[in-house]
Amino acid sequence: MRLTSIKLNDFRDLYLYQLKDLYYTENQIIEAMPKMIEAATSTELQSAFRTHLEQTKSQRQRLEKIFGRLNMEPEEEKSSAAAGLIDDGSYMVKADGDPAVRDAGLIAAAQRIEHYEMAGYGCARTYAHRLGFHEDANVLQKILDEEGQTDKKLTALAESHINAEAQHATRRY
Ligand SMILES: [Fe+2]
Repeated sequence: MRLTSIKLNDFRDLYLYQLKDLYYTENQIIEAMPKMIEAATSTELQSAFRTHLEQTKSQRQRLEKIFGRLNMEPEEEKSSAAAGLIDDGSYMVKADGDPAVRDAGLIAAAQRIEHYEMAGYGCARTYAHRLGFHEDANVLQKILDEEGQTDKKLTALAESHINAEAQHATRRY
């Protein structure tokens, strides 16, 4: 439970809250992703995660530019939800057992994080338009599209072979 409460005096405050939450989330992903890359056994999954890490770094920079255009220093708002989803991902990283099953689990964890981001970017984009920050709204839409593409790519990887390999993993216990 949080000990402090946020002040929402106007719609712009709510927009800033979304941006700070997304900035926190992207930073946490950048920190966690190398461990997910290392834990992945499938080379395709590793490369998908690697691409996403590079993309996430560029998303962070674009968020920093949005803060700059608002004459603000980039700021994080700790999201318990994002922290929890990323923690679940780290839990999967450390999973014992069959690596093929863990790969499928890493995809499931990563997709949960993607969906969290998609919800956040969708709101932030809509708020930016309403507030007249159309350039920023376009940037946020572009990032939202990237998150959507990553999500689809992970689904395709899971469905093309990773889930099947997980299903056929021999039970040794
Ligand atoms: Fe992202």
